[in-house]
Amino acid sequence: MSTRIPATLLPGDGIGPEIVDATLAALDALGAPFEWERRVAGLAGVHAEGDPLPAAALESIRRTRLALKGPLETPSGGGYRSSNVRLREEFQLYANLRPARTLVPGGRFDKIDLVVVRENLEGLYIGHEHYVPIDGDPHAVAMATGINTRQGSRRLLEFAFETAVATGRKKVSIVHKANIMKALTGIFLETGLDLYERRYKGKFELDTVIIDACAMKLVLNPWQFDMLVTTNLFGDILSDLVAGLVGGLGMAPGANIGADAAIFEAVHGSAPDIAGKGIANPVALMLAAALMLDHVKLPDLAARLRRGIDETLNLDKVRTGDLGGSAGTEAFTKALVARIANG
Ligand code: NAI
Repeated sequence: MSTRIPATLLPGDGIGPEIVDATLAALDALGAPFEWERRVAGLAGVHAEGDPLPAAALESIRRTRLALKGPLETPSGGGYRSSNVRLREEFQLYANLRPARTLVPGGRFDKIDLVVVRENLEGLYIGHEHYVPIDGDPHAVAMATGINTRQGSRRLLEFAFETAVATGRKKVSIVHKANIMKALTGIFLETGLDLYERRYKGKFELDTVIIDACAMKLVLNPWQFDMLVTTNLFGDILSDLVAGLVGGLGMAPGANIGADAAIFEAVHGSAPDIAGKGIANPVALMLAAALMLDHVKLPDLAARLRRGIDETLNLDKVRTGDLGGSAGTEAFTKALVARIANG
């Protein structure tokens, strides 16, 4: 058994605890060496400590620098800022990595294997927005400022290019709108081209594509892309589009990687409409756990987890309702654990 790896566990809200339990069962079956520090956050944090991101949760992540989290509900009203945004800022989680791979064949798009790398901290999402009142209309004009920095662009592009090399990606496409937003997205494009020329030329093919054309190409022929790297707003939109190509939210994992920590989660939210019913699809969070295993340099365990999920879905044909099956969370997890145990 390898050395224990301390990691923070935030079960989160809604279906969070159900899919976290399922994921822990799969990780236990693999013998993954995480030593969990369980902390509350989200609505559970509000109830326990009056804060959706209590100090104990932050302190634990600061120490372990590694977390697996269920979805966190940000209560509306009460002036709470999104816990997810707070986590990104607190731990400078500048890279959002979202792989999308077809796991259930026969959908509208088959054999998709794509990665989106999104800049997570800068761009038009920095929250510098205001209204200008005119003639008694308080909302006559709305303004937003976007900020992209050379340093912020470079560290994200470096992360994407390093990931491309480490995972054998053949082509990386920088997605931009530098024909219109010449400075804001031009700096990202310029930094990427320069970095490629200086350090990555020959290691993979580099391509540049304008965001609107990229959206069209993704729908017409997604197989022409391998890895997309882009700024915050475009990345937010494209990563959901790409999740849609492989069967939706129940299949989409995400990793938030930063200088100070790495946090792994499903892309979906707390699904209050199905919480407590035992029918949630745990695959997205399990795939996030596979990314976490890759991150801590246990790629063999990650591969076994992915293979187990694949075999459970496609050989055993055990699937949850969102994938057209009839299994509940527990039945899926049992079948997966059996696959892992025999694998
Ligand atoms: P949602 O992703 O929770 O749900 C959208 C739809 O997808 C629902 O019909 C839900 O039942 C279904 N769904 C989601 N995950 C599923 C799964 N694993 N298996 C089967 N079906 C699934 O989005 P919604 O309803 O907009 O958000 C609910 C709450 O989650 C909000 O409070 C929001 O702030 C929070 N949220 C948190 C996120 C996070 O912590 N990373 C991300 C997105 C939303």
